[in-house]
Parts: sequence; structure tokens; C-alpha cells
Amino acid sequence: MLTIQALHKQFQQQEVLQDIDLHVQDGEIVALLGPSGSGKSTLLQCVGGILPPSSGQIFIDDTLINGESGHISYMPQHHCLLPWRTVLQNVLLAQELSGTVNKDEAIEWIERIGLGDYLHAYPHEISGGMKQRISFLRALLSPQSLLCLDEPFSALDEITRHKMHIWLLEMWKKRQKSILFITHQIDEALFLANRIYVLSERPATIKAEIQVPFPKERTKELLETEEFFQARTKLLNLLME
Ligand SMILES: Nc1ncnc2c1ncn2[C@@H]1O[C@H](COP(=O)(O)OP(=O)(O)OP(=O)(O)O)[C@@H](O)[C@H]1O
Ligand SMILES: [Mg+2]
Repeated sequence: MLTIQALHKQFQQQEVLQDIDLHVQDGEIVALLGPSGSGKSTLLQCVGGILPPSSGQIFIDDTLINGESGHISYMPQHHCLLPWRTVLQNVLLAQELSGTVNKDEAIEWIERIGLGDYLHAYPHEISGGMKQRISFLRALLSPQSLLCLDEPFSALDEITRHKMHIWLLEMWKKRQKSILFITHQIDEALFLANRIYVLSERPATIKAEIQVPFPKERTKELLETEEFFQARTKLLNLLME
């Protein structure tokens, strides 16, 4: 699905990404963990075609996509809802660009994420966490098969966050998506991902690649198991090294 080879990115004199090799297979969920300022968002912006890499290659299947947008569905770290469009119109944006709009499905999902009363509200009329959920839904409902999500749940309370995890897994299964997402939350990475890449301090290199030792189908009971606690401790120790 996604293959990144020997990716470097620098801004003026500052090297941010150094020799990044990373891949996401079809149907996989992969998490990126790393210190603040290490270069995670820069990496996703390169994949999304918003920033051109300084060197290296990014492929979707066999197509080189360096500097090209539109190949993946990208949710940026800071929401980018269009202020002159309503919640519903914002969710439908990616579908409109691709020419296939499914309004009923969009309304159903907006209701399911608890924002049914805000279908016709404008972004300035809703909270930060609501904007994040709308931005997340827009990415989920867009037609591309790879979703790249930059801290999709950072502004949410614990319960809403967990509900979004379950919805993400449901949508992933139903629509057969592949997902690359950034998070600062160890539990979130372990609960959702099949594999985790840990990035070093800037300039970011891949410090570790971890295969998550749980079955593909996740339920909330997993969070209370001994195996989950053990995996959590191991990952925490690795991050502290
Ligand atoms: N467009 C840009 N021009 C110049 N420098 C930039 C640009 N974008 C990012 N940087 C720099 O690149 C470095 C990495 O930033 P990035 O946003 O990728 O980090 P991050 O790992 O996503 O951090 P966080 O976890 O806080 O979101 C920072 O030093 C930042 O100042
Ligand atoms: Mg970031």
C-alpha cells in the first residue's frame, strides 16, 4: 500500500527527517509515536503531498507520489474545516471532489458521532473537539483507501475518545481501509494498531518497530488484560530510553 524509502526532509538548515523507511500494508493500522517536535507531522505532510521531501521516495502501491496530493485521505493536526461550509457540507467535501456523494450515509455517521443537532451549524458555532470529530469523519468517508490521521483524537475527553476508537475500527473493517496515524497516547497506539513505529528526537529516525501482539479484532475487554499491561510497560520503557 504505502512504502517510504530513505526519506529526508530539511527546512533551511534544519534537518527534521533522516533516512526514514516505513511501510503500511493493505488493511493494516500503523501508529507513529515520538517526542513532540520530532517530525511526525512533517512526515505525514510529505505523504499527503503538502510538503515535498528533500530526498527519498514515497510510493502508493507502485506509483511514486512525491509532492503529489490526492492519493491519500489526510487529516491534519489542526482541523481545516472550511468556515463558509456547514458541518454536513464539510464532511461531504472530500466526496464532492471525487465525484461520488453519499449524503444519507454522511448524515447517519454525523448522528452516530453525536453531532446530529449540528448538521447545519458552521465551524465557528461548534467546539474544538466537535471540529476534530468532523474533520476525522471527513477523512473516514473520503474515497481513498489509505487514511493518514495526525493526532485525530487529541482534543477529546476519555469517553468520546474511546467511542471514536470503536467507530474507527468499525469503519476500518467495513470499508477495508489502511490507516497510518500519529498519537502521543501509548494506550491508543496499542489498542488500535497492528504495528507501531517509534521515532527518535529530531532529526527523526525510526528508533523501533513493534509488532503489536494482539489479535486483529479488538474489543474494549483487551484494555483490562494482563497482556495489555505488559505490552504497555514494555513500550513505555522503550520510549523512556
Ligand atoms: N513548514 C515548516 N517550515 C519550517 N520548519 C518547520 C515547518 N514545519 C515544521 N517545521 C519544524 O520541523 C520540526 C518538526 O515539526 P513537526 O510539526 O513535524 O513535529 P511533531 O513531531 O509533529 O510535533 P508534535 O508532536 O508537537 O505535533 C519542528 O522543529 C518544526 O519547527
Ligand atoms: Mg505534530
